[in-house]
Amino acid sequence: MWYFIKLLALVRLSISTFNEEIDYMYKSKPINEFIEYFNNLNLSWKITHYDNLNASTHLCSLLKSEENIPYIKPDVDGEISLPVNFDSREKWAHCPTIAEVYDQGRCGSCWTFGVATTASDRTCIHNNITVRLSEQDLDCCKDSYSTRKSVCGGGSPEEAFKCWTTLGLVSLDCRPYNIQELKGNDTCKKTCKNGKQYQSDKHYGKNVWRVPKDDDIIRTELFRNGPVEASFKVYEDFGHYKHGIYEHKYGKSFGGHSVRVIGYGEENGTQYWLVANSWGPKWGENGFFKVKRFQHELNLEANILTAFPKNI
Ligand SMILES: *[C@@H]1O[C@H](CO)[C@@H](O)[C@H](O)[C@H]1NC(C)=O
Ligand SMILES: *[C@@H]1O[C@H](CO)[C@@H](O)[C@H](O)[C@H]1NC(C)=O
Ligand SMILES: *[C@@H]1O[C@H](CO)[C@@H](O)[C@H](O)[C@H]1NC(C)=O
Ligand SMILES: *[C@@H]1O[C@H](CO)[C@@H](O)[C@H](O)[C@H]1NC(C)=O
Ligand SMILES: *[C@@H]1O[C@H](CO)[C@@H](O)[C@H](O)[C@H]1NC(C)=O
Repeated sequence: MWYFIKLLALVRLSISTFNEEIDYMYKSKPINEFIEYFNNLNLSWKITHYDNLNASTHLCSLLKSEENIPYIKPDVDGEISLPVNFDSREKWAHCPTIAEVYDQGRCGSCWTFGVATTASDRTCIHNNITVRLSEQDLDCCKDSYSTRKSVCGGGSPEEAFKCWTTLGLVSLDCRPYNIQELKGNDTCKKTCKNGKQYQSDKHYGKNVWRVPKDDDIIRTELFRNGPVEASFKVYEDFGHYKHGIYEHKYGKSFGGHSVRVIGYGEENGTQYWLVANSWGPKWGENGFFKVKRFQHELNLEANILTAFPKNI
């Protein structure tokens, strides 16, 4: 019986990184005292307090699409040896969009950022076209958020990727991000702010697929083909992330988030994904963060989507 209980405890430990003691301190201490306490625990990451960022207003409800998106492994000829640390910004240094981060503001539009930024990076990597695609233009993708009031109410990354293949996306210069406009009615404006022709500014995707939940496959996809979009469950502690490798420790969950994974690596024995957030460059490591791979509570690896741009 004792062994059985011990075994159960071990299993629970191996899947949960949440820490009750830290969570208790979080709930009972003033935030400044808690930050000092947490940062002195010498864990793999540090926290801070962001004045103008209430993470719960910057998330989004993620909707599932009706249609099943296929699981596809990257095409590999023969054995491929993956580096321990990989950063897309270095491999495709001629693609400036990979290194850029944006701020979604107080709007649940994270899904449009996760998809449009991944699409921009891959348009450069595979078609050698440098263009920052417009997340605003995903407001023309009604299927992806039709059960919500607006793009800011959340949406479906799957449907958004599909729209990249069917409707295409114009550039950010044509349709810059504008939250006010997103919250209105009939927001899909088929005109360019920069005087270009809307239809001729469209760039298209070719197909969309799910990357199977497997460490080697995900790393191969990143290394061979570039950034991918990922969704995961967000807890309060993530909102306090300053630097290091994020591992969920305290706080309750307040929603989903969609981001762009650009690489992976290992530090002091901890394996992580390197990710671009859409909360502006003042958050985290200049807008980026590292997150420990395969955390049961985040379920990130089960929710990775990507696509190729249409051949030109
Ligand atoms: C964390 O590291 C600091 C500086 O090295 C040390 O003073 C402190 O005791 C460590 N804290 C814990 C909980 O190990
Ligand atoms: C790894 O160890 C170094 C040296 O002790 C430390 O500065 C760094 O913060 C550690 N990184 C992580 C992610 O724990
Ligand atoms: C963050 O925003 C949510 C939703 O508007 C609100 O319920 C919560 O109290 C806010 N938290 C802080 C710390 O301002
Ligand atoms: C990519 O485009 C740039 C400028 O348009 C050009 O100089 C370069 O040769 C192109 N690279 C490839 C591999 O076609
Ligand atoms: C949007 O349409 C709804 C219902 O038709 C209306 O009540 C609302 O005032 C409109 N909002 C704007 C910003 O036009």
